[in-house]
Amino acid sequence: MKYRTIFAVMLASLLLAGCHSAPKQEEKITLKDALKDKFLIGVAINTDQAAGRDTASVRVIVENFNAVVAENCMKSEVIHPEEDRYDFILADQFVDFGERNDMYITGHTLIWHSQLSPWFCVDEEGNNVSPEVLKERMQNHIHTIVGRYKGRIKGWDVMNEAIEDDGSYRQSKFYQILGEEYIPLAFQYAHEADPDAELYYNDYSMAHPEKREGVVRLVNQLKERGLRIDAVGIQGHLQKDFPTLEEFEKSMLAFAETGVKVMITELDMTALPSPFRNVGAEVSANFEYTQEIDPYPHGLPAEMDKAWNDRMNDFFKLFLKHADIITRVTVWGVADEDSWRNYWPVEGRTDYPLLFDRDHQPKPVVNMIIEEATK
Ligand code: XIL
Repeated sequence: MKYRTIFAVMLASLLLAGCHSAPKQEEKITLKDALKDKFLIGVAINTDQAAGRDTASVRVIVENFNAVVAENCMKSEVIHPEEDRYDFILADQFVDFGERNDMYITGHTLIWHSQLSPWFCVDEEGNNVSPEVLKERMQNHIHTIVGRYKGRIKGWDVMNEAIEDDGSYRQSKFYQILGEEYIPLAFQYAHEADPDAELYYNDYSMAHPEKREGVVRLVNQLKERGLRIDAVGIQGHLQKDFPTLEEFEKSMLAFAETGVKVMITELDMTALPSPFRNVGAEVSANFEYTQEIDPYPHGLPAEMDKAWNDRMNDFFKLFLKHADIITRVTVWGVADEDSWRNYWPVEGRTDYPLLFDRDHQPKPVVNMIIEEATK
């Protein structure tokens, strides 16, 4: 009897505690929930993630992000390896992933000098093709790819990295053959293939004043011709002490001033020393490995980690301050181990550039962003 009474009293108090005083566990606010009225929060994904093989990353992607872009599989060397052959296997997987998870899907990238299919601008002898042939190839490339994903891919990086840091046109093969005309042509072809898709110009080192001016000139020219351009993508491959927030902000405002929106499209921030201040994100830049420039192979020291989180937070504060002109912020990779910065511009370093660490855990900045966005 005695035991029965004790049991009954314990049960009653447990039930009461459950009904009244026990503090309910706080609902976890995720990054995408916190930012939902501000801008899209996106991530670049690789093929293991799109195919669902990297389950730890997939969990992070689905929980925290509402937009995706393909890190590599839509670049011309992958998707259009020979003039008469497209390979859509990986790109289809990527688009399926985005749709299954109800995400805003961006296509990256239609015309770019890098990771360019070797056949694209030359004939069988390796000589540049004529302007007419190149136009036809560009048209075919853009119409086929944009057409295939019409209505599913909502926005395209039509043109990637056409302007040099000094504001002049990059002397790419496209430029050598067609002059500056290849840029409006690309926008025209993309619009023909999917009139509802948003179209973007995307580039790095956008905080350089000369580059800023060059890109503003280009956007104005496109608009003067009546071509569709919805946003400028600022890649945002940051260094720990460069560029300044002030110069970055000036560029955001200068682009918005032309009447387009602004997106941060490839955000990451190296935690490593950069003896190469001005490479921006020039993919061809390559420096020899030395231990001196790979100082943290086993983890970031606490004060470095704090400085990294604070600076990343400062950038997000800037984005939130200008949420009216920013439509999307996309990070260039899920967790630190995925980042291209472990192999660029120096092969084989251990870097810490993303919002999630090697164990797929959020870094302190994630909560800082959530707090800032919801206060
Ligand atoms: C990078 C990828 O992350 C790497 O995996 C690849 O080896 C090289 O390209 N600017 C861009 C991106 O527009 O497409 C680049 O992505 C990084 C710089």
